[in-house]
Amino acid sequence: EVKNLEALFQARIDRDEKIEPKEWMPEKYRQTHIRQISQHAHSEIVGMLPEANWITRAPSLRRKVALLAKIQDEGGHGLYLYSAAETLGISREEMYEQLHSGKAKYSSIFNYPTITWADMGAVGWLVDGAAIMNQVALMGTSYGPYARAMVRICKEESFHQRQGYEILLTLCNGTPEQKAMAQDALNRWWWPSLMMFGPKDEESPNTEQSVKWKLKRKTNDELRQQFVDQTVPQANILGLTIPDDKLKWNEERKHYDFGEIDWDEFWQVVKGHGKCNKQRLEARKSAWENGTWVRDAAVAYAEKQANKEEK
Ligand code: 3HC
Repeated sequence: EVKNLEALFQARIDRDEKIEPKEWMPEKYRQTHIRQISQHAHSEIVGMLPEANWITRAPSLRRKVALLAKIQDEGGHGLYLYSAAETLGISREEMYEQLHSGKAKYSSIFNYPTITWADMGAVGWLVDGAAIMNQVALMGTSYGPYARAMVRICKEESFHQRQGYEILLTLCNGTPEQKAMAQDALNRWWWPSLMMFGPKDEESPNTEQSVKWKLKRKTNDELRQQFVDQTVPQANILGLTIPDDKLKWNEERKHYDFGEIDWDEFWQVVKGHGKCNKQRLEARKSAWENGTWVRDAAVAYAEKQANKEEK
């Protein structure tokens, strides 16, 4: 019986049909989506922290306002994605507990410190640039609520990427010290941005099944290659040097060849031993605890409103 249901389900996926919350789906499909969507949401929320570090230090009001808008967008993306995950039967509390206990992952990239203003440019240009690669592919994902959330999120991510690139362009057209600051940021953020796409395809336990279910429309390596091909010309316009002496255009492949990622560093960070992992989780846990009164007040207010309507 279940074999038959799974065959019918796979036929729907093969016909590029969208799967909606109330429709039958294999338990593993449900669990894989809860895993990926909730971790995507955690990434958005934790991703607010490295940038928040520069709100009070932004060099102008215009930069401060753009940074605030970007961080606010990310909070919204997180809420969107938590709601998409809830349609699969997991509660918001459960997801937060998984993040705070260290059970759930979030993107490794947010465990690096943002130590100069140029980092705000590098994060927008590279981190949001990589996120866009990944999220544009996810607009075609088979689970309806996830695909639809991506449409809205991708529009806002483009603004994030542009404002980051513009920060670096300003610095690169500035004094030699400003250009050096931009180069230093690129040196620190380039390789961690490539790690955002995950392990090599042959080392990725989830990719094969996720491609079959059209959760993943492109593999980790395909998206990483696309990101490198698109970003190198942008670095050339900035007049910055990408910190990879193996980076070279390959006319045959029509792609850039590039050096080997430090996979030990990647797995160290994913396992919680990166520069900022502890600090990020502490910040999230204390925000959750210190925000209890806000959640309680919102629930009390909503109940009062509901009682009023009943009378
Ligand atoms: N950081 C942390 N963990 C990572 C990772 C990374 N960069 N890359 C892979 N992993 C984890 C995976 O989650 C998986 O562990 P799990 O099974 O416990 O979840 C393990 O390493 C093996 O990796 P796989 O490639 O087999 O796992 P996936 O098939 O899930 O692929 C992924 C990883 C490409 C990140 C995929 O999960 C994905 O596309 N997620 C949605 C996109 C996302 O999360 N993006 C975060 C970017 S930041 C962001 O969006 C904020 C923006 O505003 C800047």
